[in-house]
Amino acid sequence: MLNKTNVPHPIPYQGSKRMLAPIILDYFPKDVSTLYEPFAGSAAVSIAALFSDKVKRVHLNDINKPLINLWKMITDNPISISSAYKSMWQEQIGNERTYYDLVRDRFNANQQEADLLYLMARCVKASIRYNACGQFNQSPDNRRKGMNPTTMTYHIHSASRLLKGRAIFTAIDYLEILNQATVSDIVYMDPPYQGVCGQRDSRYSNSIAFDRFVSALQSLSDNNIPYIVSYDGRTGDKTYGMKLPESLRLNHIEVHAGRSSQATLLGRNHDTYESLYISPALISRLNAHDSRLSSVGQTPLFVY
Ligand SMILES: C[S@@+](CC[C@H](N)C(=O)[O-])C[C@H]1O[C@@H](n2cnc3c(N)ncnc32)[C@H](O)[C@@H]1O
Repeated sequence: MLNKTNVPHPIPYQGSKRMLAPIILDYFPKDVSTLYEPFAGSAAVSIAALFSDKVKRVHLNDINKPLINLWKMITDNPISISSAYKSMWQEQIGNERTYYDLVRDRFNANQQEADLLYLMARCVKASIRYNACGQFNQSPDNRRKGMNPTTMTYHIHSASRLLKGRAIFTAIDYLEILNQATVSDIVYMDPPYQGVCGQRDSRYSNSIAFDRFVSALQSLSDNNIPYIVSYDGRTGDKTYGMKLPESLRLNHIEVHAGRSSQATLLGRNHDTYESLYISPALISRLNAHDSRLSSVGQTPLFVY
């Protein structure tokens, strides 16, 4: 399995699938042409897939245009974005709170890529939040200064090497991406479900309607497109997010995502599990080689 410690991850992002990427990649068939990530965020799965040669190309899409512009800049101008980050990181020293507010105002006026990277590195829980007018309004995490510039430079340059010439970037609604995928591709979808992506109060939050998403999945299945969805999950007996309907005939896998820090603080011993749903077309491609996927159904299989 992939060693996640070397995989670049330049954009800190709440809800990143960095830790789960090795398990998700385990369900990729051989010889995938393009990996489509319609809800890319920090693109953890795409970067890991390129890193481990699981796919030839990736298509990164996210409705957040400044985020996609940041990805383009990381890919095409790694020197310039790393040095902008380094200057900002150094300029903030001794004046972190005021400096954060200044960068946030500047980002809200100009939407510059380096400003977004700095805000992501410094804000609470690496969680993008916008107010009703579309202004970035997340507060800084005053205990941390953000990723060290040397580490950031390493992540940016490594990500750029992986993405250059192999990535397409778009910032449109996910539905417009799905019809581009073919049977030799794979689609990985991680939509913003409740309470995880930090988008509760943003203009982006309401764009995912459950029924719209379910019908998009049905249409991918009808066209035999292989896909994987991250959706709901649970900590102990407490579930979050809605389960995808059985009518989709997806294979439901529960992945152990670690111990809940919240539960530990409260003296309870609860593990967190995240759901992965594997599409029928992908199951048939994997079935021949994979005893984990012997049948299509919703009885969760456990992966540790
Ligand atoms: C859970 S996050 C994805 C995290 C990602 N898997 C990672 O590893 O960082 C969901 C993403 O979907 C994006 N999004 C929300 N609504 C969308 C839409 N209608 N179309 C495309 N992207 C959307 C959000 O901006 C957010 O970045």
